[in-house]
Amino acid sequence: MKTSLRVQGEAREMHPVVRDEVYRIVYEAIRNACVHSKASELAVELKYAQDLSISVSDNGIGIPQLLISQGKNGHYGLQGMRERADRIGGKLKVTSSANSGTEITIVIPGRIVFLRPDKNPIQKIASIFRVPR
Ligand SMILES: Nc1ncnc2c1ncn2[C@@H]1O[C@H](COP(=O)(O)OP(=O)(O)OP(=O)(O)O)[C@@H](O)[C@H]1O
Ligand SMILES: [Mg+2]
Repeated sequence: MKTSLRVQGEAREMHPVVRDEVYRIVYEAIRNACVHSKASELAVELKYAQDLSISVSDNGIGIPQLLISQGKNGHYGLQGMRERADRIGGKLKVTSSANSGTEITIVIPGRIVFLRPDKNPIQKIASIFRVPR
């Protein structure tokens, strides 16, 4: 499988407990893509903005709608991702079709996941040019 990782925005420190949950959600999404999707491509994207958004997408066979809504008996990957997302106040979206594969997106509000408030525009410029404040 051809894989790609894209990071947009400036990386920010995360609350460790929330970060661990995010890690487990994304790990499971990647694991599922590797085990089930039969995809030739896997893309992971992280976006640091007001909120943290991460998407894992594959171009594989897709997840049957019934499995998305009801899960699979005795299998807890998708269910676990949803429960973890709920617990940290995030939103999990599963988009899937047999034609285009699967995309799992998690969005966590910045005020929950990021440890420090975002720099204001003046601070950002100052840090780029290393101007003492
Ligand atoms: N990216 C994907 N592409 C295609 N099918 C998928 C994908 N992710 C999940 N599925 C389907 O959805 C089912 C449920 O996924 P889930 O992660 O809940 O269980 P599992 O991976 O089978 O087992 P577990 O995660 O408990 O080890 C899978 O068995 C598989 O059929
Ligand atoms: Mg799984």
